[in-house]
Amino acid sequence: MKNRISKIIKADGKTVMLAVDHGYFLGPTTGLEKPWKTIEPLVPYADCLMLTRGILRNCIPPETDIPIVLRVSGGTSIVGPELLHEGIITSIEDAIRLNVSGLAFSILVGAEYERDTILAFSEICDFGQDYGIPVLAVTAVGREMVRDAKYLSLASRIAAEIGAHMVKTYYCDEFEKVIEGCPVPVVIAGGKKIPEKDALQMAYNAIQKGAVGVDMGRNIFQSSNPVAMIKAVRAVVHENASPEEAYEIFRQEGGE
Ligand code: 5RP
Repeated sequence: MKNRISKIIKADGKTVMLAVDHGYFLGPTTGLEKPWKTIEPLVPYADCLMLTRGILRNCIPPETDIPIVLRVSGGTSIVGPELLHEGIITSIEDAIRLNVSGLAFSILVGAEYERDTILAFSEICDFGQDYGIPVLAVTAVGREMVRDAKYLSLASRIAAEIGAHMVKTYYCDEFEKVIEGCPVPVVIAGGKKIPEKDALQMAYNAIQKGAVGVDMGRNIFQSSNPVAMIKAVRAVVHENASPEEAYEIFRQEGGE
């Protein structure tokens, strides 16, 4: 377990996870129509990839030397009636066969079906425990829910109590409260694409308030220059760069 966690969270205690799992409920999202074309130039700068088994098997060359956090929850889509009512979509045997370093599962606290997602998540935590594979809980947020510190602290704490080894949540005002209440490492999702400067500021704020890193997708691969952006994000996470310094890196590396 510790060995696998150390592949995801690096020796400095930080991580830049590249989330490219969006297709499992969004289909061919902008920027990920041809996954490997987008992912390949980013691999040297990512500490690990978060994706589904379909993309891992079909699009990532097996010799690629990067840890994988495998999304094992799904079952609903952006056009279906129950977005994020997710269950287990991949067996532990397949995750082991795919040689992954971690499993990722979304829970939806506060939704009508929260119990289904939390119980399925607890099964994944048991599987992970049996085989020494850490589990990243994703605190998904329904369309009508508020992403504030009260809600995200509750969801993150529940994830940790059930057995998560790491939590992926959203950045919010008073983010330090989310960190204080969560006894396992926290990474932030990037969320919808925002200007690069703002995404770097958000990553910086999250790190300053105690996040161990980011699990960022759209704000990297939908950037006008994804390689420049991931290099700038790395500087914030691993080198304590300020948002201004990081934006300068983005510009120098060819970003707008
Ligand atoms: C949904 C997810 C996404 O699939 C993805 O990983 C989010 O990344 P980003 O918001 O940075 O694009 O976790 O709950």
